[in-house]
Amino acid sequence: MMIIKNLTVSVAEKKILDDISFSFEKNKVYALMGPNGSGKSTLAYTLAGHPAYVLSKRSRIKYQSIDIGSLTADKRAKKGIFLSFQSPLSLNGVTVFQLLRLALSGKKDPVAIKREMEKLGKELKIKPELLKRSLNEGASGGEKKKLELLQAVILGAEFLIFDEIDTGVDVDALKTIATYLDSIKKGKTVLLITHYNRILKYIKPDKVVVLVNGQIVKTGDHKLAEEIEANGYTKYQKHIG
Ligand SMILES: Nc1ncnc2c1ncn2[C@@H]1O[C@H](COP(=O)(O)OP(=O)(O)OP(=O)(O)O)[C@@H](O)[C@H]1O
Ligand SMILES: [Mg+2]
Repeated sequence: MMIIKNLTVSVAEKKILDDISFSFEKNKVYALMGPNGSGKSTLAYTLAGHPAYVLSKRSRIKYQSIDIGSLTADKRAKKGIFLSFQSPLSLNGVTVFQLLRLALSGKKDPVAIKREMEKLGKELKIKPELLKRSLNEGASGGEKKKLELLQAVILGAEFLIFDEIDTGVDVDALKTIATYLDSIKKGKTVLLITHYNRILKYIKPDKVVVLVNGQIVKTGDHKLAEEIEANGYTKYQKHIG
């Protein structure tokens, strides 16, 4: 469980998130929606511990009953928080296996990692040669997102944040990704940042959260995502000065 309280976050001295309080529970899927620039990625980076995002004194982030607000990204990752970036970076000269092996040193046997990679690669329909290349090198948008999911699973992440997992992903890949994610959600918290309702057809969110101008303006069930797709955010933007 992740509890955020009075979360106010600034980047380069500009306030982006404004006094957000919310609880993310275990075994639940959340969809975070909102117009461009509303602060969705900022929230994702903040939860993952990106050092550029500065929290106000009153801000609290608790994960599994521990105050993690001042922990580095590395320590949060070790606690099971995984962030898949909106645009995953390439890592020249490092394969997925090498990266996972390093991240899991002492925790998982390299042979077991290889085996899991093969199994997951098949389930997620990732071309085997992609797993042998440098991370994300020459990978398409959809392939990168699949590789992110594969890493999250093998790392044993329990709080999974996917920033725009559906952007640049074709219909079939989206179905593969979302269906797989849905099948592994037990015991985890999944936070999907999305602009579209389409992914939510394969993985139904327990809660939809709408962020506008750095504030949570509405929460609801999956029907809220449908309503937003039909009507946009105008009605929520009006309430904010
Ligand atoms: N490093 C930064 N320096 C200055 N401003 C920033 C920085 N990072 C984010 N911002 C600003 O914070 C605001 C929120 O950005 P954020 O990326 O969180 O939005 P978003 O909701 O993820 O948007 P999108 O849907 O376009 O991905 C934007 O106005 C953005 O320009
Ligand atoms: Mg974003």
